[in-house]
Amino acid sequence: MEKPRPFVLINAAMSADGKIATVERRQTRISGERDSDRVDSLKAESDAIMVGVGTILADNPSLTVKSEKRREERRKARKDENPLRIVVDNQARTPVDAEILNRGEGKRIIAVSKRAIVEDMERLAEKAEILICGKEEVNLRNLLYLLWQRGVNRLMVEGGATLNWSLISQRLVDEIYIYVGNMIIGGENAPTLVDGKGFTLEEKMVKLEFLSAKRMDEGVLLRWRVRK
Ligand SMILES: NC(=O)c1ccc[n+]([C@@H]2O[C@H](COP(=O)([O-])OP(=O)(O)OC[C@H]3O[C@@H](n4cnc5c(N)ncnc54)[C@H](OP(=O)(O)O)[C@@H]3O)[C@@H](O)[C@H]2O)c1
Repeated sequence: MEKPRPFVLINAAMSADGKIATVERRQTRISGERDSDRVDSLKAESDAIMVGVGTILADNPSLTVKSEKRREERRKARKDENPLRIVVDNQARTPVDAEILNRGEGKRIIAVSKRAIVEDMERLAEKAEILICGKEEVNLRNLLYLLWQRGVNRLMVEGGATLNWSLISQRLVDEIYIYVGNMIIGGENAPTLVDGKGFTLEEKMVKLEFLSAKRMDEGVLLRWRVRK
């Protein structure tokens, strides 16, 4: 029997040509104000939010809830102001001064593999709980189980392309929100919504069920359910 895990949703913004950043892996504004507010609300409703270390190194996000009202609502519900923040980081490469470790209250987890060096883990342990979870690479299925055991029922994943592939290809995602913005970024090496190795056989491809499409700002918000 499969181990229990949280409900997992991926949220991403991509250009009309499917890129989530520029070819230099530089973050660029793809969505508008209404969509940013929607993402903030999704974040506030989640128990935890997860990113890959590539996103930390490229964008240095804090992943905090931006709206004071939503933080207040979380406090009233006896929760931390911000959801538990998790970085998937095989070698403990997250910088100690990263925004995610320093901005806003709330707990953090750095999930590492056995490849991580003790000194790097010790350095990060002052700011976050370190979970050793996997030999060469973070074992995502086990990590999700550990999160579930810690009371995480709803997990939001904020990228990037490589982590999205790992989760999707291992059938660990339930829903995908994609904001499609009104621009073309281009570049064959620019990250897309899902990178990694890719599927070659049609029967292995992950199939989606359409849930909704909504016009928002200058683009469209798509919501998909992942078929089991
Ligand atoms: N538009 C959007 O919505 C959006 C959102 C987020 C990010 N982005 C963009 O996405 C780009 C970053 O994506 P990325 O693909 O470079 O990095 P990423 O997916 O954020 O992180 C991937 C890294 O995580 C580590 N990792 C550890 N265990 C893993 C596992 N089991 N599966 C997958 N990764 C694992 C690996 O690095 P180690 O081996 O070093 O541990 C891996 O290279 C940036 O350009 C950023 O701007 C865009």
